[in-house]
Amino acid sequence: MLILSPSILAADFSILGKQIKEVEEAGAQYLHIDVMDGSFVPSISFGMPVISSIRKASNIIFDVHLMIVTPERYIEEFAKCGADIITFHLEAVQDAGAVIDKIHGLGKKAGVSIKPGTPVEAVLPYLDKLDMLLVMTVEPGFGGQKYIPESTERIRLARRYVEERGLCTDIQVDGGITADNVHVVLEAGANVIVAGSAIFRGDIKRNVKDVLEAFETFQK
Ligand code: DX5
Ligand code: ZN
Repeated sequence: MLILSPSILAADFSILGKQIKEVEEAGAQYLHIDVMDGSFVPSISFGMPVISSIRKASNIIFDVHLMIVTPERYIEEFAKCGADIITFHLEAVQDAGAVIDKIHGLGKKAGVSIKPGTPVEAVLPYLDKLDMLLVMTVEPGFGGQKYIPESTERIRLARRYVEERGLCTDIQVDGGITADNVHVVLEAGANVIVAGSAIFRGDIKRNVKDVLEAFETFQK
């Protein structure tokens, strides 16, 4: 199944609840929530209080992308404040297997993310425990960047590893995806699509529909 996960990093935070309702009503299945600590990435976004407060306003699946150092310290808190899927960066931990177990122990889905410079092979030891692999298609840290073309082969490779092992791991892509280039990542094997600027800039409902239509065209 193809899933759209709009990233609220590009939303208008003064009307965040309203904009979340809009993406939900337009048919997005997940909500992508980017947590940045100013250390793993240069920028700082938001943390648990924001997530708890939007949790009360929506039942959509919360897909939390942690761009933070020592994510293992915060897994319980993110689980408690409403995350459904918790994705951390492979580059940020010593023992990814233990972090995945911790997430699963709290009854949540576990994702691992890799930056554009990290070989896809680095996740292989954990692939069979993972619910989702996030192949970053820009350097993490900011919205509104351009899709890195070399990502396409990385997505294809990730899909191949998943299939060779007979797994059904989701492959998520994040960064620079629009209704116009989404077919490229779908064709390469991604099935969970993050989009920030392409959804929250302009007419949100129209933007969600455009991406969902691109999904349909791809599936035909
Ligand atoms: C980047 C974040 C992304 C970001 C994507 O570090 O992880 O989720 O919001 O934004 P766009 O879709 O604008 O590239
Ligand atoms: Zn993200």
